[in-house]
Amino acid sequence: MNRREFLAFVGAGACAEAASRLSLAAFEERSPADVTLRISPVSIEIAPGRVVKTTGYNGAAPGPVLRLPEGKAVTFDVYNDTDIPELAHWHGLFAPAEMDGAAEEGTPLVPPGGSRRYSFVARPAGTRWYHSHIHAGRNLKRATYTGQFGFLLVEPKEEPGRYDQEIFLALHGWNPYLGVAAGSEGTLDAIYEDFSVNSHSLGHGEPVRVKEGQKVLFRILNANSTMTHRLAFPGHKFMVLALDGNPVAVPCEVEILEMGPGERVDAIVTMNAPGVWILGDVDDAVRKAGLGVVVEYANQTGAASWAPPPSSRWDYTIFGHEGSAPVSDAELVPLVFRKKFAGNRWVDNWTINGKSYPKTDPILVRANRRYRLQFDNQSDEAHPVHLHRHSFELRKFAGKPTAGIVKDVVVVPPRSQVEVELVADNPGPSLFHCHQQLHMDFGFMTLLQYAG
Ligand code: C2O
Ligand code: CU
Repeated sequence: MNRREFLAFVGAGACAEAASRLSLAAFEERSPADVTLRISPVSIEIAPGRVVKTTGYNGAAPGPVLRLPEGKAVTFDVYNDTDIPELAHWHGLFAPAEMDGAAEEGTPLVPPGGSRRYSFVARPAGTRWYHSHIHAGRNLKRATYTGQFGFLLVEPKEEPGRYDQEIFLALHGWNPYLGVAAGSEGTLDAIYEDFSVNSHSLGHGEPVRVKEGQKVLFRILNANSTMTHRLAFPGHKFMVLALDGNPVAVPCEVEILEMGPGERVDAIVTMNAPGVWILGDVDDAVRKAGLGVVVEYANQTGAASWAPPPSSRWDYTIFGHEGSAPVSDAELVPLVFRKKFAGNRWVDNWTINGKSYPKTDPILVRANRRYRLQFDNQSDEAHPVHLHRHSFELRKFAGKPTAGIVKDVVVVPPRSQVEVELVADNPGPSLFHCHQQLHMDFGFMTLLQYAG
């Protein structure tokens, strides 16, 4: 209940006068929240004359970068100025289920015109994010198709890497519609007319300004609702330090970053190739539709250059310990992903172990035990699967054992198997789903449930 609703509520009673004076004082004594998020319609000009009408946070899209100290108890007031119930989910945090921002876990929705207070301890440290977590179905004006996304950085007590500048880049697609994409056998998919990095399409808005010799830390988020993006930065390499906000076992340099919906990469780039460059999507059509940003060295001018990367290989396991697969006592949980073709010009349905949400079987766990989730993707599409309120460690990727890579989203390639391990250490229902909005809304979801 917000102040206005509170007054209306007490105003309706008979002996409202005294009661109102008393409780209003109590209401107003409630300390202000650490963070206020207001969900409301926004218009953003991603390029001159190209205005996107969407829903955002605090009058912008993306929303503000929220920086919270690790271990701090934080409060969020979320106001909903739209006409549908909304939810903000704190992706990658270990929040209690009733605060996490998923109705399936029991978090109360923020009613239209109303507000709710959420509170939890900011942990674990790292590059997290927040986004809408409602069902969109075939309505691509809702949930993660909108501008409701933003970075939530949980700042560690000690920052390990050294850098001269920190740059946040959030990738997003705009003006989506359901259409038949090339090579998808008549099935409907989300197709985007425009893309942006933060709030502008490539070539518009301010460039990233750098100086020769600087080390720039890029915190990158794929906030696209359905598409995987592959990024390159001609003349430069990305030194990957963290995946999904968690430091990797073996930081290394790569030519491209491949990111499924929901994934984050923290990478340092040493600026050693003076010029004006495009950091953008490797796919020409997607980059030309806006997915990129200009990086401009001091005292350099001219048109931004692009060149395709020499190698487009992306393999999570290079950031892990090779071949180390000590025997673990983890209980195995097989999860088979399949597509159920719904017909031409329909959206496909998805199953986990043969069933679609809400009929899926829950993943049953006991507190403090170790589990190995075995993802078996029997479909021709990649799935960025995500578990709420927990992190997991990659243990096997397409046949290759690995260790030391801790994530909360992992892209399971088509016709492949991936295994991850976790300790069930955060009791309460926790959503497990594909982060591709069109997959999660059409069955690809279940709950991890604690017994007892
Ligand atoms: Cu990023 Cu279920 O969410
Ligand atoms: Cu999927």
